[in-house]
Amino acid sequence: MDKVIIEGGSKLSGKVDISGFKNAALPIIVGTILANDKCKIDNLPMIGDVYNLVKIMEMLGAKVYLDESGYMDIDTSTIRDPILIDEITRKMRASYYLLGACLSRFGEVKVLYPGGCNIGVRPIDQHIKGFEALGAKVEVEHGVISCKANRLIGSKIYLDVVSVGATINIMMAATMAEGTTIIENAAKEPHIVDMANFINAMGGNIRGAGTDIIKVNGVNKLHGCNYSVIPDQIEAGTYMIAAAAAKGDVIINNVIPKHLEPISAKLIEMGVEVAEYGDSIRVNGNSNMKSVNVKTLPYPGFPTDLQQPMTALLSGVKGTSIVTETVFEGRYKYVDELKRMGVDITVDGRTAIIKGVDTLMGSKIRATDLRGGAALIIAGLMANGTTEIEEAYHIERGYENLISKLLNLGAKVKEE
Ligand code: UD1
Repeated sequence: MDKVIIEGGSKLSGKVDISGFKNAALPIIVGTILANDKCKIDNLPMIGDVYNLVKIMEMLGAKVYLDESGYMDIDTSTIRDPILIDEITRKMRASYYLLGACLSRFGEVKVLYPGGCNIGVRPIDQHIKGFEALGAKVEVEHGVISCKANRLIGSKIYLDVVSVGATINIMMAATMAEGTTIIENAAKEPHIVDMANFINAMGGNIRGAGTDIIKVNGVNKLHGCNYSVIPDQIEAGTYMIAAAAAKGDVIINNVIPKHLEPISAKLIEMGVEVAEYGDSIRVNGNSNMKSVNVKTLPYPGFPTDLQQPMTALLSGVKGTSIVTETVFEGRYKYVDELKRMGVDITVDGRTAIIKGVDTLMGSKIRATDLRGGAALIIAGLMANGTTEIEEAYHIERGYENLISKLLNLGAKVKEE
């Protein structure tokens, strides 16, 4: 998908089904390495990052069958060598999960420094601190990370920053370590809980996931399992924001409403109607939305991945809104693109001051990263006239069937 073209102004209505959670699916696929066995995973999103990760797993030696329905058979017992020096791992952030998984199973690993969206410095010092606390020797040289350990021994690790990636990576590394590992100031995101449940389904012993203290009791060996990935909190939130932006009436199916509370609360504060049902949520937009202030925070705060779509929505809402990005320092690159559409946003460090305009103008713009691209889609839905989003491949990395889902809801959108 090189380009997305949107004719703004259509009111969205109908139903949309949410796919499996990208940020849970990626560590779960890598986590199958721990099993040294066969796993069956379903509810995987069919997105660019999953396709690339399948290639990475095959390059390592795993046998993978991926069905377009989101089902995967994977056998990692055929992996012999935990070394992969290939540019493909730079195409996504989640390749860093190879560190924790391979260190745990093989006692060593060597991969290139991870890539992913350009939204800030994104160090991995907390991952490394965790591996070292468990007894690994870690070296970073010429863009290659090597970790080695004769024995991994359970330890107490306090994370200096709340990090999703470090929490999951340390959980994986500690799974087969001797004794107990305690991770303090752990991240609490829904995918941390999903990953812990997955490891436990393989025979691991992790307690406390979803709180800020996680206890990993080391086990000798894991085994294969069947597992279904949770629904994508960020994809669901994006459609909730899109429904509000297009003053639509949309039912978002296959969600866990609890995971969406920070988004529901903000939309309700803006005057949008949000109704929760068992596993769906209905969002009813209107023309009288109010400006609000938003601060991104680790879960259960407002997710940083939805800061960009939310900022786009607020740019068309009367009044002044202030958005504060506390998680990633470089997450406003897309604002320059939004400005081409006539929005009034001033960014100062981590704060964006948004003065809502009456009309956004359709323009030729460029996706700067995955969620920044989603923000441009939201803006395109609100704009007068045609918006052409170039470099739209960023968006494909994280949104399954985006175009057909939007078309089903009545958007005038196509890809090239
Ligand atoms: C993951 C998600 C990303 C999401 C983010 C926060 C994946 C593949 N990516 O990214 O979509 O936006 O969580 O919900 O799941 N930090 C350090 N040192 C570290 C690790 C992190 O300083 O060792 C900092 C980061 O720079 C950032 C903050 O901690 O400022 C949070 O990062 P983290 O939660 O680790 O995000 P990612 O795992 O990179």
